Amino acid sequence: MTQKRAHNFSAGPAVLPLEVLQKVQSEFTDYRGSGSSLIEMSHRGPEYTEVDRQARERLSRILGLGDEFEILFYQGGASLQFLMVPYNFNTGKTADYINTGSWSKKAIKEAKVFGNVHIAYSSEETNFNKVPKDEELKFSGKGEYVHFTSNNTIFGTQYHKEPASDGLPLACDASSDFLSRPRDIKRYGVLYAGAQKNAGPAGLTIVILRKDFLEKARTENVSSMLSYPTQVGTLFNTPPVFGVYIFNYVLEWIENKGGLEAIDRLNRKKAGLLYEELDRDDFYKGTAEKESRSLMNVTFRLQNEELEKTFIEESKEAGMSGLKGHRSVGGIRASIYNACPMESVEALVAFMQDFRKKHG
Ligand SMILES: Cc1ncc(COP(=O)(O)O)c(C=O)c1O
Repeated sequence: MTQKRAHNFSAGPAVLPLEVLQKVQSEFTDYRGSGSSLIEMSHRGPEYTEVDRQARERLSRILGLGDEFEILFYQGGASLQFLMVPYNFNTGKTADYINTGSWSKKAIKEAKVFGNVHIAYSSEETNFNKVPKDEELKFSGKGEYVHFTSNNTIFGTQYHKEPASDGLPLACDASSDFLSRPRDIKRYGVLYAGAQKNAGPAGLTIVILRKDFLEKARTENVSSMLSYPTQVGTLFNTPPVFGVYIFNYVLEWIENKGGLEAIDRLNRKKAGLLYEELDRDDFYKGTAEKESRSLMNVTFRLQNEELEKTFIEESKEAGMSGLKGHRSVGGIRASIYNACPMESVEALVAFMQDFRKKHG
């Protein structure tokens, strides 16, 4: 029986590589002859230990982490990291935050619980349609780190290189463009990402900490579950084993594709096709400034909300899912993460062309 696979443009949880899903499916109830699924075994046993080790090794190789970084496989989503970053590094101090959308705002709100927050830039006045140029950033001059959201999932904007940071370590919410391209990783003090877009299922959060920055984390009178120094290097509590299991295969898939450079080339191609279609005339209107456009979430509007509703309905009939914009902004959003196949993007472009002919 051939299986139905939708052209899935969900913003997250999002499409995963079919090969990965099939591999997990094939061994799910009997993991390598053990008679149990990997998610039914001890997280301290040899099977999971090996998966965990492989995932760390692959991630380290893909990002070029070397010996300078620690990796945590965590639960609680990126939202818990909004809290943990300031809890560890900005209690009673000052940190600089760049506000480029709803997720940045949530990070800022949490940071204010613990310390002073200096807003180095905000694009809120223009409805978050861009990310800053370096010269637009106004730093406090006394920050512990500079926090930014490298891809703004809701507003369809993305930094195409790391922002200036006044010599400070970067703290980054990379949830929606994690492993989508190479990064200047040495500039990051802490980088975190919920897995459910580019890396695996919801329930796993990847946290990467530079060791010299980690040394600055508070250690006195801390809550163990919230303390990076307590968590690093141990399985302090049960890790999200299912998430790490899938993540390990996604990392293998990335390496088989040729690593982040190759993935980046593919992502540019996919996004390029969609933006070319948006720019053809003014039937579709991209919402992000051109220089800030995201390669992961392509956001656009049509002439009116009625037509947007029709677009969504007709796209579903054409076998596409997940194209509705975030509930807070409306419009259309095509999320085209790493695992979204080129064929899905081509199908969407063809659909957009037909839709324009029919309704333009
Ligand atoms: C950029 C960004 N940050 C944070 C979050 C929140 O992640 P979580 O639900 O895993 O806490 C999301 C979720 O979509 C996101 O896109």
